[in-house]
Amino acid sequence: MQLDLFADIEPTLSEKDELIALRKELAESNYKYYVLNAPTLSDYDFDQKMRRLQDLEAKHPELFDSSSPTQHVGSDLHKQNGFKQVRHQYPMLSLANTYSREEVEAWYKRAVQALGTQPEIVCELKYDGLSIALWYEQGELTHAVTRGDGQVGDDVLANVKTIRTIPWHVDNAPAHFEIRGEILLPWGNFERLNKEREAQEEPLFANPRNAASGTLKLQDARIVAARGLDAYLYYLLGEDLPTDTHFGNLTAARDWGFKVSEAVRVCHSIEEVMAYIAYWDTERKNLPVATDGVVLKINSLAEQEQLGYTAKTPRWAIAYKFQAERQLTRLHKITYQVGRTGVVTPVANLDPVQLSGTTVSRATLHNADFMEQLGIYEGAMVWVEKGGEIIPKIVAVDEGQRIKDEGRRTKDKGQQEDNYPLSIIHYPFPSSCPECGTTLVRDPEQAAWRCPNEGSCAPQIKGKIEHFVARKAMNIDGLGEEIINLLYNQDLLHNIADIYTLTLQDIASQERLGEKSAQNILAGIAASKQVPFARVLFALGIRYVGETTAKKLAKAFPSIDALMAACKEELMTVEDVGEQVAESVRAYFANEDNLQIIERLRTAGLRLEEKIEQYTPHSTILQGQSIVISGSFANHSRDELKQMVEDNGGKNVGSVSAKTSFILAGDNMGPQKLEKAQKLGIKIISEEEFMEMLSESHR
Ligand code: IVH
Repeated sequence: MQLDLFADIEPTLSEKDELIALRKELAESNYKYYVLNAPTLSDYDFDQKMRRLQDLEAKHPELFDSSSPTQHVGSDLHKQNGFKQVRHQYPMLSLANTYSREEVEAWYKRAVQALGTQPEIVCELKYDGLSIALWYEQGELTHAVTRGDGQVGDDVLANVKTIRTIPWHVDNAPAHFEIRGEILLPWGNFERLNKEREAQEEPLFANPRNAASGTLKLQDARIVAARGLDAYLYYLLGEDLPTDTHFGNLTAARDWGFKVSEAVRVCHSIEEVMAYIAYWDTERKNLPVATDGVVLKINSLAEQEQLGYTAKTPRWAIAYKFQAERQLTRLHKITYQVGRTGVVTPVANLDPVQLSGTTVSRATLHNADFMEQLGIYEGAMVWVEKGGEIIPKIVAVDEGQRIKDEGRRTKDKGQQEDNYPLSIIHYPFPSSCPECGTTLVRDPEQAAWRCPNEGSCAPQIKGKIEHFVARKAMNIDGLGEEIINLLYNQDLLHNIADIYTLTLQDIASQERLGEKSAQNILAGIAASKQVPFARVLFALGIRYVGETTAKKLAKAFPSIDALMAACKEELMTVEDVGEQVAESVRAYFANEDNLQIIERLRTAGLRLEEKIEQYTPHSTILQGQSIVISGSFANHSRDELKQMVEDNGGKNVGSVSAKTSFILAGDNMGPQKLEKAQKLGIKIISEEEFMEMLSESHR
């Protein structure tokens, strides 16, 4: 299904005006996409509008402007970012792209005609991240340059070096070469990151590409490392390449230790190409990273040269983009959800619709600004898309329907013609809390409206308790959303301190809860009194104090009393604590209700200060051993394994040396580490062998 986005352009708009408006819109969209990492247009809409602009410019050469978005690729230059700007060794061009298989065929035919032979075509996946140029000199990685404006990019070497699949050093490769590829945040890491951001009320990334881009621009490579980026490489450049085909060069790069996709194929006919496209259109959904199409490249470098380049793109390659699945459905109601910190999130309730194998009936409308941008209203027909994101999103209001509705609205002067009140096309955000009726407030500089009634707005109270008992906070097993709701409704639970005065009788008398479960919950509550101070601090749910900030605060102020006594300036001396966080901490402790809760938690025996503990390992089986952990593991996270090493007397070290006792290796162990280990004859053991080793210590 193709959308005609231009069907509704008013006939009075002259082509010149349309052209100028498109230039402006696309330039702004480029800025939002590349600099702010917050795209305003879907890829599909962007591409359609770009095409329309190209057509109009072709028709009106008198309106040529070298600064038009058609004449340059989008810019991700971030002026105050502190990264060094570097001129590309070879300009970083983009690819001609199409959503039509006919156009792929036409491209192939043109190539056959120009070359006078049927060329081999290398088919690859089009990875949906951000492009990077890696420079290697004498085998060493020296620069990692972002696209920038295609001529000059940012050197983000320190951040790129945190990507485990990018080798810092390669052997047997040419003295100077450049390899290009795509930096990606795998789906799993993307979801985890967004969950953390949600918990900390930070704005969510719309998709893994924006998350990867935002991550690469961070000034702290440690945070970059923790986010777990990955990279696929797909283009080798240099004077002295190992072979005269693209495929041959990719294979060589793979041998040098680069991550080159296993999905790369050489095809000998357009039918094979089409079969590749059809296969990956569905199969790509099972990949760990986002892809948005297939890239087709002429295999022979001589033939590539023969075909050459246009101003912006090579003629020897084309990208076929998969159409994101979208459906039209009716938005029958907008409801509003209140979160634990009072943020009110609008939710679109939709007539259920099938999208990529799931039924979609709800989608977030994010905030008032987003609603306004969409021009959303109850009763609207909306396009729902599941593209590079997991969460379905509303990408547009059906323009045809809107025009009809607006016409009807004017005609009927606001009278209701069917079930849908059309009196307001730009839907107003409610001015009072849908749960407790308190007047909402809008944070300056933030899109969100909040209910300030922290103390007695039900979803805020329940949300705070749910946050408090969560696994990463006090980890009180069994006390889930449902039972919190029951206890709240019976006036037994109003705040987090009430948890510690619950009796067996209070809990056991709840529906579907026997004495046994009640006892377990009480045991969980008792055990939570041993939870370290940093986690208690996180559990309190102070706005903007997420897990990491709580740890940093607890380290700097090792007791709640010290933290309460700290002024804003003192708080701001802590790493990552800016004005917003500091003010939020101050505001929390300035609230009398919160102080009472803290005193009750203190009486209950919670750990409100950092306990300096003498570390006692669980065994000494790894005493005196230096252990390197590399790769990813099936059953444990690397942090868990590191903890086990320490718990059993061993020492974690980062790099392989003659002193390394053994390497605990998972999947995709770093190629340099593997090589070094083999050279030094260091033992490599698997996760299973390691677990066995530890279990021996407990026999
Ligand atoms: S080749 C001159 N291969 O798509 C050709 N690009 O829209 C250089 N991309 O800038 C690019 N997967 O960021 C190539 N397998 C692939 C790709 C790929 C993703 C990105 C890349 C490029 C953009 C073009």
